[in-house]
Amino acid sequence: MALAPETIRERVGQRQHWYHTLELAPGVVTPGWFDLRPVAGQVLPASLAGKRCLDVGTFDGFWAFEMEKRGAAEVLAVDIVDPRAWDWPITSGDALVDILEDRKQGGRGFEIAAEAFGSQAGYRECSVYDLDPVEHGRFDFVFMGSLLLHLRDPIRALERLRGVCAPDGTVCTMDAIDPTLTRLFPRKALAQFDGEGRPWWWMPNIAAYERMVRAAGLEPVGSATPVRLPAGAGQPVVKPSRRALTSREGRRLLAATRKGDPQAWIHSRPLAT
Ligand SMILES: C[S@@+](CC[C@H](N)C(=O)[O-])C[C@H]1O[C@@H](n2cnc3c(N)ncnc32)[C@H](O)[C@@H]1O
Repeated sequence: MALAPETIRERVGQRQHWYHTLELAPGVVTPGWFDLRPVAGQVLPASLAGKRCLDVGTFDGFWAFEMEKRGAAEVLAVDIVDPRAWDWPITSGDALVDILEDRKQGGRGFEIAAEAFGSQAGYRECSVYDLDPVEHGRFDFVFMGSLLLHLRDPIRALERLRGVCAPDGTVCTMDAIDPTLTRLFPRKALAQFDGEGRPWWWMPNIAAYERMVRAAGLEPVGSATPVRLPAGAGQPVVKPSRRALTSREGRRLLAATRKGDPQAWIHSRPLAT
């Protein structure tokens, strides 16, 4: 039985932080960190009718639900709900882990949204590194968003996506890029390294991003397309200040507030081995 909009509204209000902006009932919208609704139509095929689909690192499940809306026959969403099991640099403290654990609430966002949508999407705890065609089968469409940045070994993760993609299937990744390195070096594969205090590792330019995909045995279909991820109502607005303007991170945050988070998406096909 469908949940009443008042029940959904009450459940949405029980969570202070949402990663995704989701309209769970008419006029009941989660205050997400990002509002990816304008982006989904550019990145996903118009129809996924009859396809077996995978969403890796699903968080509140926006991409899994979008795949379902496009007619997927089956959607599996995987995630690691305990932030302690993510790839952290050794310099990270407990404070940020605790904040993220609070935001994640053991995957409660996905649970609330799935019930509100009457979704049939499956949810499993699994690291991208552990995706296995024997255990999980193969998928016609594999999606992974905003996760390569957070992985110590992004190429291994891409190899795993390739491993669970059907031979005639598609892998779609959308991830953080460095816009300055992309502008200054359109053909040279370069990346900026973070690795300090937070689970942020490599931010490639577009040339490096395409090279990473190829290095994992995936053949890009066309080039990577830049996109800006719009902030949602849950993301604090960064105002220009001396402090913001005098640090690289401050300038990055200001630009992200104004223009959205810089990313690029790419569709690719698994190379036969
Ligand atoms: C920045 S969020 C991106 C959420 C969503 N994929 C999107 O594109 O909007 C990163 C997600 O990846 C998950 N994650 C972190 N490490 C992971 C890993 N090794 N395997 C699978 N998921 C992971 C986190 O729990 C979180 O849900």
